[in-house]
Amino acid sequence: MSLEIAQDLTFDELVPIRDLVAEASGLFFDEKKFYFIEKRIAKRIKATNTQSPRNYFRLLKLGGNSNEMNELISSLTTNETYFFRYLPQLESFAEEALPMVCNAKRAKNDYTLNIWSAGCSSGEEPYTIYILLKEYLKDFSKWSINLFATDIDHRILEKAKRGLYEKRAVKDVSPKILDKYFSYNESRFHINEDIKNSVHFDYLNLMNRKAIRSFSDMDFVFCRNVLIYFDDKARKQVINSIYDCLTPGGFIFLGHSESVGKISATFKLVKLKKSLSYQK
Ligand SMILES: C[S@@+](CC[C@H](N)C(=O)[O-])C[C@H]1O[C@@H](n2cnc3c(N)ncnc32)[C@H](O)[C@@H]1O
Repeated sequence: MSLEIAQDLTFDELVPIRDLVAEASGLFFDEKKFYFIEKRIAKRIKATNTQSPRNYFRLLKLGGNSNEMNELISSLTTNETYFFRYLPQLESFAEEALPMVCNAKRAKNDYTLNIWSAGCSSGEEPYTIYILLKEYLKDFSKWSINLFATDIDHRILEKAKRGLYEKRAVKDVSPKILDKYFSYNESRFHINEDIKNSVHFDYLNLMNRKAIRSFSDMDFVFCRNVLIYFDDKARKQVINSIYDCLTPGGFIFLGHSESVGKISATFKLVKLKKSLSYQK
């Protein structure tokens, strides 16, 4: 089959590149999205001066997990995010799941919390989590908090680390929280330094089983609006890897349209007042 698509990439040329991307990142693009990936692949062919889709495919294939694969993936990710995204779920975390976990820990005199925002994009999600911890944990200063935030897109991680945001990113932030945790300068909202320094950002490909193993004893994993872009096989692999990272009783929060149900029977579904979650 050779379906001609704009910008000179044919269906047959796109499929192998699309499949390499899926294998490397979990990101899967069906034919309806070919228009989107085609433009980006064409740009990368130009940037690498590889001249043809076939040469570009070879560069990706022979390069293994090379820089070019990272560049291509970075150009294909959807980074949509904002502070306090999907508030009912965040309230479920802060008002129900967090006290559940923290009370159990207090009883053991364990004041360590491990939290991971997997697929953190430009940082709005992990910064929101840290703000929630500060707002809801009455004995906040007693806790040793490890908040990790990872993404496959190295460019978006640089933005996350800068902690500077446009008005759109803070549209759902209340004036009180905005005033308390942000400053406004040169038309941008700056997250406070102490919050910025409390989140550990790092590159991590969720398809890399070995790298994921460095995350263990997690009390909470947020992997929201990431797996919707994956195929079933990759989704299953990531959910299983995350399961292994969680401590018994630990929670995973997915995007509100996503569910573990069809993917893994190992999690326990927890009906919190304002949303659903899954617990190990
Ligand atoms: C739509 S954003 C979600 C951001 C945030 N979690 C939220 O819900 O607002 C999805 C993020 O997942 C990242 N991502 C996609 N594939 C990934 C992978 N294999 N490993 C790690 N991150 C990945 C993308 O780079 C992107 O920043």
